[in-house]
Order: sequence, then C-alpha cells, then structure tokens
Amino acid sequence: NAYYDAGAALQNAQAGGFPLTRLRRTRQAAWSRALVAENTLSASNLIWPIFVMDGLRAKQPVPSLPGVDRMSVDLAAEAAEQAAELGVPAVALFPYTRPDLRDEAATEAFNPENVVCRAVRAIKARVPNMGIICDVALDPYTSHGQDGLMVGDEIVNDLSLEALTRQAMNQAEAGCDVLAPSDMMDGRIGVIRSALESRGFYNTQIMAYSAKYASAFYGPFRDAVGSSGTLRGDKRTYQMDPANSDEAIREVALDLAEGADMVMVKPGMPYLDIVRRVHEEFKVPTFVYQVSGEYAMLLAAFQNGWLTRDKVILESLMAFRRAGASGILTYFAPEAARLLKA
Ligand code: PBG
Repeated sequence: NAYYDAGAALQNAQAGGFPLTRLRRTRQAAWSRALVAENTLSASNLIWPIFVMDGLRAKQPVPSLPGVDRMSVDLAAEAAEQAAELGVPAVALFPYTRPDLRDEAATEAFNPENVVCRAVRAIKARVPNMGIICDVALDPYTSHGQDGLMVGDEIVNDLSLEALTRQAMNQAEAGCDVLAPSDMMDGRIGVIRSALESRGFYNTQIMAYSAKYASAFYGPFRDAVGSSGTLRGDKRTYQMDPANSDEAIREVALDLAEGADMVMVKPGMPYLDIVRRVHEEFKVPTFVYQVSGEYAMLLAAFQNGWLTRDKVILESLMAFRRAGASGILTYFAPEAARLLKA
C-alpha cells in the first residue's frame, strides 16, 4: 500500500520511536473531523413512509411500531407539511384499507377515491413542492394479503401485472410523482413504464423495489396496513431469497432496462452489502428502506434504555449513506431531520 509502509512502521515502533502515521491527529477536533468526513447525512436524504386511513382528524397507534400512527388524510397532509418544513423532500404513502373493502381482486386499488389517491391530492394541495411516492403492490387491498393476484395457491405473475398497471395508473392520475413497485412480479417495471408513456405521464418517476427480500423484518408494517392477520402463505415465490446477492444484480439490471429511474434495496441494515454492490455496479440513484422491523428493534432497545436514541438513529442512517445509498426510507425521517438541524 502506497500510503502505509508496515515494515517501516514496525521497525520504528521496535526502535521505541513514534508511529509514522497518527490517524488520531485529524480526529482531535470537531472542525477537523468535519473536514475529513467522507460522507454526509442531511434531511434531503430522507423519505418518510406514512400510513393513511379513513376518517377525520383521526389517528391510530400501531403497537408494533411505537411512535408511528395511521393517520386520516387531513392529519397526514399536516404531518407531511411539518416534515417538509424540516427539509424532508418526500413522503411514501401506504394505505390501511378497511377490511370490508378488501377482496380477491384488489378492487379498491383501482378506485380513484381510495385513501391513497385522496392522500396524494390532499398532500399535493397543501405541500405542492413535496414529492409523493406511492407503493405499487396489491397487499393492502387483497383479502389474502399477497402483493399479486391468486388463482388457487399460486400468485399469478402476468395476471398480477395487469392489476398492478391499473393500480399504478390510478395513482399517477391522482398526481403521484413517483411510483414505487414493491410487488416483485417479473416484468412490472416495463409494463408500468409503457402504460405511463402511452398516457402522457412521461415525467412520472419509477423507484423500483428491485432487490426486495422475503424478509421477516416486515412484520410491523403488515400490522400497520392490516395484512398480517390475513396473509395466506408467504411471499417467497416472488420476493428474493436472503441467501442471494448476485441475483440482486440481475433484478436491478432488469428494472433499469425496463425503465426504472431509481432502484431500492430492502430491508436495509441486514442488507448493507447489497446496497454497496448495487451502488458500485450501476452508479444509479440507489435507495434503501430501513424497514419496520429494523425500526421496531431499535425502538425496543431505546425503550429499555439499552441504546442512546439520538446517536443510534443518526448512526444507523449514516451507515446507509456510507454503503452508497442516495436516500433512505425511514420511519425516523422527521425526527432525524430535527436532530440534523440541531
Ligand atoms: C408491500 C410492502 C411491504 C413493505 C413495503 N411495501 C411489505 C411486504 O412486502 O410484505 C415493508 C415495509 C416495512 O416493513 O417497513 N409490498
């Protein structure tokens, strides 16, 4: 290594001399640490996932996500505005669909008056400069809790593509800026991109959940959207096997070829190696989702007094930046933005 001659350093130490390189020098003062910092974290790197539901001035806590509430559309718009004032550039919307509106065909996903579409319009009206990201997947709308449509026990790919495209167009019509397909069906990015183009939505962005793993860290999210009780089977026939890494590269390559503007890795902390590989391989905007289970895990430690909340939140987010993420979806977004301001 050109920067460090181990032999010389060793000789020197044996002779009772001084270390040739003192990395501690630049760590002595805050100004100096700031100058040599290799990565930055700011509010503009954060995307805030929020859960929207029916009602007026209503909210419901999600017990497995302490501090996270489902919010009615009016409250969600106010919360989004506060996040925007803290410098958070975008929100990602997820619906809690009333159980009586869930069915096998995910009908409510195509309703222009569904809670996500209403939230898109309300947030756009109140905070026109904030980016709005909508999840494209059927699980909040299906009675079986799967992201695609089922025939018997099978989640049928190409049938699901038609439904996902309809859902995506419904969200685009409502004014969504970024469609984020999280369904992991093969070919979804291509069909959604071509449907957008043919309808004149050529500026609608696609953030593909490209490397989305069949993870046990999504449990609290499923509580929040109300699909944990109803989920029939598991998602391993479409979400990725946690054992795989090369396959993530193929997924990303396909999504980019099909017209994705940005890609995502999910979950986050247990998959930092994938974030790093994707970023190095493709050099495209790479996002990462610090998912519900990661949030819940940290919250449990904070509540027990086992970890220091503020420091751990910022360190966990900086880790994603160091791994190469442009942006991070995190339930800590407004809190982290506030900490970064202080
Ligand atoms: C839906 C979706 C999930 C998440 C985001 N979109 C859950 C799942 O795939 O079962 C998880 C987010 C989180 O855990 O915070 N397709």
